[in-house]
Formats: sequence, structure tokens, C-alpha cells
Amino acid sequence: ARLVVLVSGSGTNLQALLDAIAERGAAGYGAEVVAVGADRTGIAGLERAERLGIPTFVCRVGDHATRADWDLALAEATAAYRPDLVVSAGFMKIVGPEFLARFGGRCVNTHPALLPSFPGAHGVRDALAYGAKVTGCTVHFVDDGVDTGPIIAQGVVEVRDEDDESALHERIKEVERSLLVDVVGRLARNGYRIEGRKVRIP
Ligand code: GRF
Repeated sequence: ARLVVLVSGSGTNLQALLDAIAERGAAGYGAEVVAVGADRTGIAGLERAERLGIPTFVCRVGDHATRADWDLALAEATAAYRPDLVVSAGFMKIVGPEFLARFGGRCVNTHPALLPSFPGAHGVRDALAYGAKVTGCTVHFVDDGVDTGPIIAQGVVEVRDEDDESALHERIKEVERSLLVDVVGRLARNGYRIEGRKVRIP
């Protein structure tokens, strides 16, 4: 399967995918990263791709007159690489109708909380502030809401009394990276069906 991965920051989830593909081979893993897209320049996520000669693209909201123009530009830049699956791995923008028209049902996102708890841009901070004793991460299909699409897999992470946001997020990311690698590989190799809120991977 052809993957386009969207990032906004350090790209350690992207790196986990790249490492798995390097280890097992694209055929063995069932997928290859054909391009990496971002909503901003100057981030480690783009450097990780450039280092391997993987094509990159950047679509900045500020470069477009309207949000809808940005959404269309992102959709077209992504479509140019003919992805079978789009992976939003720390991509911090909400995609819109143009993107979903093309990739709805074939775009997965990873979120650092146990959805439906703590959706949005501060899931780790919100779980900590709430006093949750366990949190974790969720890989789900992207729909037109914010972190609301059908859940594919989740991983549980304990919250420790001494945790601050970054310590907890790092612990979550250890689980998140392996969960994302496992899910993307299974979707790519086995195919899948989305039945309402259920995801079936044969
Ligand atoms: C991940 O935990 C992702 O779920 C969240 O931001 C983090 C991105 O980390 N949205 P990285 O850029 O993959 O290192």
C-alpha cells in the first residue's frame, strides 16, 4: 500500500513507521511511505523524510485566502502521490470536506488519549488535569468531527502521581508508536471494512 503521512512536529510516529518498513521491507510490512506532508516548515518530521529521500510537501493555512482553499490544496497535494492510505501522525489541523471527499474512509489518525475521552489538541494535558488514573492512545479513522471517527485500536497507559504533561506524553508515545505501526501494517496487508462505528480487519 502507498502511504502519505501528515505531520506537524517531531514526527516520531512517522519515524516508527519508517523504521518498521526499513526492518521488514515494504513488501513484508505491506506498505511504503511515498510522501510526507505538513502544515508548517522547519519541523523534524519533514527532516526525517528528507533524510531518506522521501518527497515532502507543505500546505500552510496562512498561504491561502480561505480555510477551504487550504483544505483543497492539502487534498490535491496528497492526491498527487496516489495514496492508498493517509496517516495523520501528529498532524495538528482538522481536515475539511474537500480532503474527506477524497480520503474519508482511507485516512487514520493517532490521538494521545482514550477517545471519546479528551479529544482535541490537548488530550494529554486534559487527562492529567482531570485526574484520570489511566489514559492512553487511540488509532481511528478520520471523519468530519474532531477525533470522532470509528476506533480501530487503543492502548492503555497508567497515569503516575509524579507525571507532568511531557512525561506522560512520552510514555503514551511509546505505546502509540507501536500501536500505529501494528494498525497501519494490518490495514495495509489485510484490508478492512468500516461498518458504522465498527472496523473489521480480517
Ligand atoms: C502524538 O502523540 C500525536 O498523537 C499527537 O502529537 C504527537 C505527535 O508526536 N497529536 P510526533 O510528531 O509523532 O512525535
